[in-house]
Amino acid sequence: MHDIIRQLEEKRQQARLGGGKKRIENQHKKGKLTARERIEMLLDPDSFEEWDMFVEHRCSDFNMSKQTIPGDGVVTGYGQINGRLVFVFSQDFTVLGGSLSESHSEKICKIMDQAMKVGAPVIGLNDSGGARIQEGVDSLAGYAEVFQRNVLASGVVPQVSMIMGPCAGGAVYSPAMTDFIFMVENTSYMFVTGPDVVKTVTQEDVTHEELGGALTHTSKSGVADKAFENDADALLMLRRFIDFLPANNREKPPVRPTPDSPNRIEESLDTLVPDNPNKPYDMRELIVKVVDEGDFFELQPDYAGNILIGFGRMEGSTVGIVANQPMVLAGCLDIESSKKAARFVRFCDCFNIPVVTFVDVPGFLPGTAQEYGGIIKHGAKLLYAFAEATVPKVTVITRKAYGGAYDVMSSKHLRGDVNFAWPSAEIAVMGPKGAVEIIFRNDIGDDDKIEERTEEYRQRFANPFIVGHRGFIDDVIMPHNTRMRICRSLRMLRNKKLDNPWKKHGNIPL
Ligand code: HXC
Repeated sequence: MHDIIRQLEEKRQQARLGGGKKRIENQHKKGKLTARERIEMLLDPDSFEEWDMFVEHRCSDFNMSKQTIPGDGVVTGYGQINGRLVFVFSQDFTVLGGSLSESHSEKICKIMDQAMKVGAPVIGLNDSGGARIQEGVDSLAGYAEVFQRNVLASGVVPQVSMIMGPCAGGAVYSPAMTDFIFMVENTSYMFVTGPDVVKTVTQEDVTHEELGGALTHTSKSGVADKAFENDADALLMLRRFIDFLPANNREKPPVRPTPDSPNRIEESLDTLVPDNPNKPYDMRELIVKVVDEGDFFELQPDYAGNILIGFGRMEGSTVGIVANQPMVLAGCLDIESSKKAARFVRFCDCFNIPVVTFVDVPGFLPGTAQEYGGIIKHGAKLLYAFAEATVPKVTVITRKAYGGAYDVMSSKHLRGDVNFAWPSAEIAVMGPKGAVEIIFRNDIGDDDKIEERTEEYRQRFANPFIVGHRGFIDDVIMPHNTRMRICRSLRMLRNKKLDNPWKKHGNIPL
């Protein structure tokens, strides 16, 4: 008995040391924490229950039987974040580069299966050299087992990936299928093929960082949702992020009591929209002034800036926010912004998170780049996402809502539950100037006449009343009351029940 206890302690000790002191030092030298340090920082103190600490790989090729380390390069288990259950796996780069063996994948699959059974989020802390090369196809099979679970868990429990080191080759596709990908600046990278292969195939010279670093994926590719300065910052922000999410698709979003009154008046919003309809203003300011305590967790802030997405709370309950940003491309919808917002709306709909939409959109971005790039299909993604969503939907039109983009942005016609307009709203088939130049083509050249006709058109159509007459908006509200009106609407919608017709699944234009 004593012997077993001693052995147990020795094994635990060995597992805790991972790849050994030297490799741990190397990890620290790179500015990275170890797999265990990361878990400790992520979870509430003393809440981590580790599983499979004694699992070892079963490979004997390439002298591997001499290289076994309990835990096999990944630390798995469950714990709590601010008292709420989460499952977590954290790859240990000090053990064979965090590479994925068959046993390593079985450990990940075990916690994913359990998370599905009990309905709790899965968090992956990725730091891995990819498939365990010595294991060959067993490792590939292991990846596929994880991929399959990612797909089955999608829409059932939230899945979040934090990339904290290498993530390359086919290994990228597990994070890619999770709901959110976060990265750490300068120490993480993701790519399907590395710089050497790129050089051979396309003759491009590119560094790891340029090809797949945090900056690339948060600003160019849109693969990552946000990047953080270092491990500690990333893990603390991840705790804050998890607080917004329900544990599974059967739960309502968590409620966090707030001292911020739902009736708070925000006078400064009355002057947010400039008199000149072509002058931009910062939509982010509106969001921050409307949500509880100004706490807006923005996602993809450096990608497709013409649309803003992120989480906030209203009366303590999580809401997803989608908003056109007039500061970038005048708030037009284009390929990137449509894809960005569509995926976010679908996440909210999966997990019962109401969507609040702020609209100031002059239309879809014109041009060959957009048409050749398939704006028809990509724009349809956002339309589809809003139209299929059955969660509470509250929309506020602050200024422009023109053309097809008016329809797309959570309009009444797409089952918007409560649709408000500010007095500055202009809802029309297109902007007054464009409309006049088509209807009164013969007057082009006569500036006075065009000016007069434009004003006439603005008076007639570009105001909130035309759609108000038809009931396409439920009320014209004063900007300073926006928070109060949204809070009331969401309160009214708390027990909303709406089901789409039965189907295996829809066919969103991918
Ligand atoms: C086994 C690996 C490994 C791997 C790294 N190691 N990657 N062992 N399988 N895939 C080991 C190294 O041998 C080394 O062991 C230790 O981990 C640390 O690696 P270093 O190279 O010293 O670290 P670093 O210089 O930081 O470089 C990290 C790296 C590099 C860029 C990740 O190790 C690398 O290029 N590894 C191979 C990546 C790769 O080709 N993976 C397969 C991709 S294909 P010691 O004992 O010296 O500490 C793939 C397919 C998945 O993943 C398909 C899914 C569908």
